[in-house]
Amino acid sequence: MRRALVAGNWKMNKTIEDGRKLARDVAQGIAQENPSGVDVLLGPPYLALTAVAETVSGSAIGVAGQNCSHHPDGAYTGEVSVSMLRDAGATHVILGHSERRELMGEGDGLIARKAAAASAGGLTPIICLGEPFTTRKAGKTLEHIAHQIEHSIQGAFTSPPPGGFIVAYEPVWAIGTGLTATPEQAQEAHAFIRERLEDIFGLECAQETRILYGGSVKPDNAADLFAGPDIDGGLIGGASLNGGDFLEIIRAARTDSAST
Ligand code: PGA
Repeated sequence: MRRALVAGNWKMNKTIEDGRKLARDVAQGIAQENPSGVDVLLGPPYLALTAVAETVSGSAIGVAGQNCSHHPDGAYTGEVSVSMLRDAGATHVILGHSERRELMGEGDGLIARKAAAASAGGLTPIICLGEPFTTRKAGKTLEHIAHQIEHSIQGAFTSPPPGGFIVAYEPVWAIGTGLTATPEQAQEAHAFIRERLEDIFGLECAQETRILYGGSVKPDNAADLFAGPDIDGGLIGGASLNGGDFLEIIRAARTDSAST
């Protein structure tokens, strides 16, 4: 059975000290409530990674980078490698976020190379995909997702990697906009992603791979979104910046995993 996962993507927010405080708040909330059945990740900016990893060490909370280079080391000004992320305490890395695809021009081929490097270097990649609004309006959502799976996941792995990978379905039009996919739209996309994973990597991989929903998940809509049988938790942006809201969303995932 898949464990629920709630991952916070802090994006370019929080100083080192603010990050430490937020991580402490989340860790204390989790220690008090002990929400079994839910894994939790925090995704601070690079500079706060070590401080956050130190703050949550000894708790069940893991730490994720928001990006990485596919190069192991060398003359790549401004880049951060997989081994550097691990050295800072990360266990996971978010890749192919739509902000990196759209604002930094990252394509599926590059994302696949990063996913392969992350996995080979001992980080679990969280590979993001999802359709822009025009694609959904044109009725081409599933086609778009299939293309991204083929090029950014199948392009990275010929067989399921030993540490596995996580997929985040994030409709671009729902990210940071306050709009969310309906639970039905989200479940349809997630079920489709799982089917495609089964076609490519087999039943076991499809059944074990966690597929997160992302895009304006908030305390008041999280439970409905997580109720879908193929929705294994969330990748949370804005609401992960507030400890109380993030803990509420973790509670929603716990309630859902307890009921399934
Ligand atoms: P949001 O961001 O929750 O602020 O919409 C989600 C994401 O970008 O991962």
